[in-house]
Amino acid sequence: MGEQMDSIGVGLIGTGYMGKAHALAWTGVKAVFGDGPRLRLEHLVEVTDALAAQRAGEFGFAQSGSDWRALIANPQVDVVSITTPNQFHAEMAIAALEAGKHVWCEKPMATSLADAERMEAAARASGKAAVLGYNYIQSPLFRLLEDLLKGGEIGRVNHVRIEMDEDFMADPAAPFGLKSDAASGYGALDDFGVHPLSLLHTLIGPMTRLTCLEAKPYPTRPVAGGGQREVETHDIALVMFEMADGVSGQLALNRSAWGRKGRIALQIYGDRGTLVFDQERFNEVQLYTIDGKAETRGFRTILAGPQHTPYNRFIPAPGHGLGFNELKVIECHELLNRIAGKPARVIDFSAGLVIERAVEAMARSSRERGWESL
Ligand SMILES: NC(=O)c1ccc[n+]([C@@H]2O[C@H](COP(=O)([O-])OP(=O)(O)OC[C@H]3O[C@@H](n4cnc5c(N)ncnc54)[C@H](O)[C@@H]3O)[C@@H](O)[C@H]2O)c1
Repeated sequence: MGEQMDSIGVGLIGTGYMGKAHALAWTGVKAVFGDGPRLRLEHLVEVTDALAAQRAGEFGFAQSGSDWRALIANPQVDVVSITTPNQFHAEMAIAALEAGKHVWCEKPMATSLADAERMEAAARASGKAAVLGYNYIQSPLFRLLEDLLKGGEIGRVNHVRIEMDEDFMADPAAPFGLKSDAASGYGALDDFGVHPLSLLHTLIGPMTRLTCLEAKPYPTRPVAGGGQREVETHDIALVMFEMADGVSGQLALNRSAWGRKGRIALQIYGDRGTLVFDQERFNEVQLYTIDGKAETRGFRTILAGPQHTPYNRFIPAPGHGLGFNELKVIECHELLNRIAGKPARVIDFSAGLVIERAVEAMARSSRERGWESL
């Protein structure tokens, strides 16, 4: 059941990196896809009235302020984009759902499993669309991976490896900040590892058994005014896991990997071939199959083009490449499909909760140094 609306009023909380990505998506989605209701940019909230007013001017929102509860109470707002830091997601999403709004909330879902469970319950009780910002599942070539797997191109999958590496925590001289504070969550596992989990769950399915090792490359960090403070989160995590149908796998996460910028490197091994994909080069996929003569076998590179929908919605020419913000436009379109009750490719709050449970099992395994079943 969905809502057929002539127009949808948009509210946006937070206007940093992700806030701007959501604003771009809301501004562009109708021009790109040409369908769906008219969108009204109604209300924007930031930490101060001045910043909110400035951003509302830049992004084209009608009203602004520093009180997110006023945005949620605004009858003109039908859907709320939540792009604030992780620790605000639960409170804001639950309040929005209870007020009868649809929600588009950035990942990770929450900073605790208990909060994620409350969010999922609120979404179910509301009957509204509640979608998480797992944008990487939206890329056209990631859809191709799914089609290739479904079509049996590499045969029966038996092993998968996925690594996510960036270097925003790589500098040991960087001062202690929120990402080193336990208030932000576990560290690499939830802030970061949820992205590769969204890919694995979409392509193959959830893990059934796992063991995890977390590590701190820098146990302390400098604090302003002198001295060192103990780091409470883990920037590195390694997971060995099993999935249904005898699939084994490895997940490796590192937020302190110098030189890595947005690496989500995926290798899927089947009994007839291999698929390789890396988010740092997400306009290409490598495919190896055992078809043809052994002498000429090798990986071939498939470049994204208009034949990989919805690439064609942005660019008619192949090989020109989509960018990160375009994934957000596609995600926004899928959210609108969900609101309208159409089939939608999204990670909603119930699928998000499965990811959060896997993260929780990994953290427990790391603490207790054992295996966890899911
Ligand atoms: N989907 C992705 O690929 C992706 C990438 C980066 C970040 N994120 C997620 O997006 C969220 C935001 O991250 P970011 O990088 O945009 O952070 P950011 O610091 O750039 O932006 C956060 C914004 O929220 C504002 N804010 C904080 N508290 C607020 C409040 N109470 N009311 C209104 N505004 C408030 C801040 O002033 C800031 O402008 C995080 O949950 C993060 O995990 C997702």
